[in-house]
Amino acid sequence: MNEERDYALPILDSLQRPLHDLRISVTDRCNLRCTYCMPRKTFDESHTYLARSALLSFEEIERLARLFMRLGVSKIRLTGGEPLLRHGIERLIEKLACLRTLQGQAPEIAMTTNAVLLARKAQALKDAGLNRVTVSLDGLSDATFKRMSDTNVPVADVLQGIAAAQAAGLDTLKVNMVVKRGVNEHEIVPMAQHFRHSGIVLRFIEYMDVGSSNGWSMEDVVPARAILDHIGGHFPLQQLDPNYSGEVVERWRYADGGGEIGVIASVTQAFCHECSRVRLATDGKLYHCLFADDGLDLRAPLRDGADDSTLTRMMADSWKTRADRYSQLRHAASEYPARKIEMSYIGG
Ligand code: GTP
Ligand code: 5AD
Ligand code: SF4
Ligand code: SF4
Repeated sequence: MNEERDYALPILDSLQRPLHDLRISVTDRCNLRCTYCMPRKTFDESHTYLARSALLSFEEIERLARLFMRLGVSKIRLTGGEPLLRHGIERLIEKLACLRTLQGQAPEIAMTTNAVLLARKAQALKDAGLNRVTVSLDGLSDATFKRMSDTNVPVADVLQGIAAAQAAGLDTLKVNMVVKRGVNEHEIVPMAQHFRHSGIVLRFIEYMDVGSSNGWSMEDVVPARAILDHIGGHFPLQQLDPNYSGEVVERWRYADGGGEIGVIASVTQAFCHECSRVRLATDGKLYHCLFADDGLDLRAPLRDGADDSTLTRMMADSWKTRADRYSQLRHAASEYPARKIEMSYIGG
């Protein structure tokens, strides 16, 4: 079968949303314990991580990514857990960088990392074909960073990772800061001040109720509007147009030319109507929504010898039938999945 003829692109889901963006979680492990993502009381020494044999191999990931690109994916983001903990991750990037869309274009390959290991890896990642890096950093003082990440890693290590990524020529560096009320909101302006005029885009993320272990409460959320008002009180802001349809971030610029910032308001301003992301979890399960409670197993058919057309059909059918829009339904209690998947496994 020739899938190139069998699927009219873009493929649309039941809410007419196109598929564009593939996020691949390459490990469920992390060297930090952010309280909103992998709280230590759940992810302690007794937590069982996926066995090595359960993880998709790089060859398996490459094969699925190649099939997704035939279905219209042009952007691939590597996530985790912490993707730099996956041994030899550069080899995977090299493989992905050789893939082509139906129009013959290379994919845009990005990574979300906490940057603790980035200083020593940035150049190799760039050489392998990584295009962009987004670094998670929730504060500038070691005390705040410790409260958010629940480790003793110094902020200086993360900043060195960011500097190394810049030096290696990884473009459009972004920093993601999750804001938790009463924990790190006092770092909003210092972070804005620090990254102004740096060429780095700082994005503030509303704390989300992803997973089932972080004890989320609406009271812990600082709404994006309040964040913008707060920053705007120090540095006047002007809104920018989206870069592309389906972008999760609302973009703003400093009126004085200090650069760009953004807010990701998935709690107070759901963006499900444009959600174009598919997620491949560490063990080969396929999810659409971050808040899903179950996914489609692609690892079993992969390992049972399914051919490309069978796998492609499974992937396409699951997209075409998707109807999830959790953030829009968050407040309708009856729609809640019973037990949501943890972010470190499904990927951000
Ligand atoms: P680029 O536009 O390619 O730079 O990436 P992005 O902004 O789509 O990706 P990134 O991983 O940096 O997203 C930032 C954060 O937004 C994630 O860590 C999540 O917290 C949140 N996010 C991303 N995608 C979704 C989504 O589909 N739904 C919800 N609710 N939140 C999302
Ligand atoms: N709320 C918002 N963002 C989260 N992330 C992880 N957990 C949450 C949460 N509960 C995002 C952060 C981090 C990325 C890896 O995942 O943006 O940078
Ligand atoms: Fe690790 Fe990122 Fe989750 Fe923090 S948010 S625990 S750095 S995967
Ligand atoms: Fe997409 Fe689900 Fe996020 Fe809505 S909540 S934007 S459907 S991932």
